[in-house]
Amino acid sequence: MTCFDLRDKIVWLTGASSGIGEALTRELVKRGAKVAITARRAEALEVLRAQVAGSGDSVRCFAGDVEDLSQMKKIVDSIESTFGEIDLAIPNAGTHIFTVPESFNSEEYLGLMRVNFGGMLHCIEAVLPRMLARGRGYIAPVASLAGYRGLPRAAAYGASKAAMIHFLESIRFHLKPKGITISIVNPGFVKTPLTDKNDFKMPFLVDASRAARIICRGIKRQKREIAFPFPFSWVLKVARILPAPVYERIVNKCW
Ligand SMILES: NC(=O)c1ccc[n+]([C@@H]2O[C@H](COP(=O)([O-])OP(=O)(O)OC[C@H]3O[C@@H](n4cnc5c(N)ncnc54)[C@H](OP(=O)(O)O)[C@@H]3O)[C@@H](O)[C@H]2O)c1
Repeated sequence: MTCFDLRDKIVWLTGASSGIGEALTRELVKRGAKVAITARRAEALEVLRAQVAGSGDSVRCFAGDVEDLSQMKKIVDSIESTFGEIDLAIPNAGTHIFTVPESFNSEEYLGLMRVNFGGMLHCIEAVLPRMLARGRGYIAPVASLAGYRGLPRAAAYGASKAAMIHFLESIRFHLKPKGITISIVNPGFVKTPLTDKNDFKMPFLVDASRAARIICRGIKRQKREIAFPFPFSWVLKVARILPAPVYERIVNKCW
């Protein structure tokens, strides 16, 4: 397998204003990449840019909302005309809500879908035609181990991440022969503002900078799936193939 050297690569990263995206920005720059960062909060992006790049040119801010396809297209246009051709896109923007069917509200589910799944689709739609025209490109969206199988209170979040995984596994068949690499990033629990809201003890919690190092190592190796942390990812991989009654008994006991 050939190695994807991040040095001097142009990376477009969404969800960079906090958590995993913020840590990834720092790690990517450390590895020599030039990073175009996107999120809705322009000021937070600018603070990060100043911290990481100072007066240098390794980070540039392109604020926008991933729910808006036209904004994503404009952002890709301006990255490519002012910074350079995008070698690697990391659609990472996402959010989380706990859901219970007792207070079922389809709009809540669809709202989460629009950010997590729809946001990723918009980023891919904005960047893919250019990558296809060049016959090369790399897309590494951040999904989640929560997309493997149904978990309590995660019906909306898990469904959005399962949709991402399924979609990416499917398009890989078409895109690989056209020179486009797809890595699916599936983290377990990472300490970020998103998980700081969780009201339960998170098993195998890792900090965001460690997550960023693992993701960059996986990208360097162009892994099909970057699932971590081990052994949590393997526990959930095995759980995927358990018969439903056994899976339910275990989850009811542990979760
Ligand atoms: N933390 C975990 O344990 C964990 C585990 C598995 C997967 N993930 C996934 O990792 C990704 C990053 O999560 P995180 O934990 O780092 O959360 P976070 O700290 O809350 O960061 C989420 C990022 O997404 C951005 N964002 C949210 N909605 C957006 C929108 N509509 N348009 C543009 N940007 C938007 C936020 O920026 P603005 O508010 O400035 O827009 C922020 O930069 C998410 O996709 C999440 O599902 C996280």
